[in-house]
Formats: sequence, structure tokens, C-alpha cells
Amino acid sequence: MTLPTKPLVLKRFLLSLFFSAALLLLLFLRQPHKSVPIRDRKTDSDGLKIRRGYTSYDSYIQRQLNKTLNPKLRQIWKTRDWDRKVLVFSSFFQVLKSEKLLSNASRSLCIGARVGQEVEALKRVGVADSVGIDLVPCPPLVIKGDFHNQPFRNDTFDFEFSNVFDHALYPQRFVAEIERTLKPGGICVLQVALLKRADKYSANDLYSVEALVKLFTRSEVVRIRKVDGFGLDTEVVLRKKM
Ligand SMILES: C[S@@+](CC[C@H](N)C(=O)[O-])C[C@H]1O[C@@H](n2cnc3c(N)ncnc32)[C@H](O)[C@@H]1O
Repeated sequence: MTLPTKPLVLKRFLLSLFFSAALLLLLFLRQPHKSVPIRDRKTDSDGLKIRRGYTSYDSYIQRQLNKTLNPKLRQIWKTRDWDRKVLVFSSFFQVLKSEKLLSNASRSLCIGARVGQEVEALKRVGVADSVGIDLVPCPPLVIKGDFHNQPFRNDTFDFEFSNVFDHALYPQRFVAEIERTLKPGGICVLQVALLKRADKYSANDLYSVEALVKLFTRSEVVRIRKVDGFGLDTEVVLRKKM
């Protein structure tokens, strides 16, 4: 009577396999599921992630306008916030002047300048020929313009500054427009947040400075340093190649 032994062994083996798998599944399900902080989420290999949720370009623009057009906020930006922010921007620009990356003769552009505090700062440190662009104009310092399609000819500026890279829905286009409108040898200064998530109106999240630098195809890095600029922690300076 040896015949029934094999099916019996097989049956026992399959049963123990089934119970082990069930036990493992149970243990796995009992593990608490921790939420991963956004900056720890490894996104794509480029270290730059476009936020989901913008169903069209119009919906992106509308979201940006919702904040920028807020009358109460605009009043605060132009009064209570004004001097404090102009002073901080001025100190950044003074450093750049001392490094000969900016001069009084530099034709300058501030991208996403809102009510124009950074433009005012440039003028205060002696850079007279300065203007800002934003979706909402704020005369006389800021004219209307979308940074994905700058309203300027090629090779216009000696210096471009921006602290709104995170608001670009098309980062490649944002950078290409800077490289298009900068003169050969012109300087681009971007202040970005690497260590923490930028604000809820941002359109992208940046996780590495390399991902930003990679977007520049016609420029070389001059320097990168840590800064403390209204929630932004890294300043990247590039020069457009001759
Ligand atoms: C965080 S605010 C920064 C304002 C200013 N640079 C400052 O530090 O006070 C972002 C600005 O980017 C502007 N912005 C967003 N998308 C834009 C676009 N596609 N073209 C131009 N400006 C844009 C918004 O209107 C807003 O004024």
C-alpha cells in the first residue's frame, strides 16, 4: 500500500504552503502604512517632477492668477512686505555686484516679479535699466508677460533673476526662454527650494540642483551657494555661452 503516500505528501505540502502565504499576507497587512514625506519620495531620475492636477494650460494660469490677483494680498505686498523684501533682494544683488556678475550697466529682467520688489531692489543698488514680468502687470516696475513665452527679442538682457522656477509648468521652456533672451555672456540667477517643498501654487518640485542645471543647454555654471531667500535655499548662477 505505497500508492496513496505521494498524493498525501503533496496535499500536506500544498496546505502548508497555503497557510504560510496566508500568514505572511496577514503580517504584511498589519504593518502600519506610513505616509512618505514629499521630499523623500524619489520621483524620476531627473530630480524634477511636474505636479499633477493641471488639466489644461488655462487651469494652470487661472491657479496662478487666483493668488496674484487677490486684492488684499496685493495691498500687503505693496505696503507691509515692501521694505523688508526690497532690503533682502538688495543684499543678494549687492553680493552679485561685488562678484562682478551684475553691474550698473546691466540691462536686467526679473521673472515672475509680482509687484516688483526685486526690480525696485535692482534700481536701488544702481541697476537702472531693470524691469519685471509677471502674468499680472504692476506698473511701472512690472509688465505683463508669461515666462514660458517672454515678450522680448533674442539677446536682450545682460542679467536675469528669478525665484519662481517652481511655478513653471514647462521648466524646459522656462529655461529655454531665459537662454533665448539673455545676451551671450549674460548672467542668469535662479533661487530655488531644494530642501523643502515649495508653495501650493507651485507647478513643479525640484529635488536636485543637477536636474535644474541639466535644463540649461547654452550656459555654464558660475557658482552655486546656499541662501536664505523667502523659503528658497539655493542660488544657482549661470552664464550663457558666447
Ligand atoms: C511666489 S510668487 C513670487 C513673486 C516675487 N518674485 C516675490 O518674490 O515676491 C510667484 C509669481 O510668479 C508669477 N507667475 C506664475 N506663473 C507665471 C507665468 N507663467 N509667467 C509669468 N509669471 C508667472 C505669479 O503670478 C506670481 O506673481
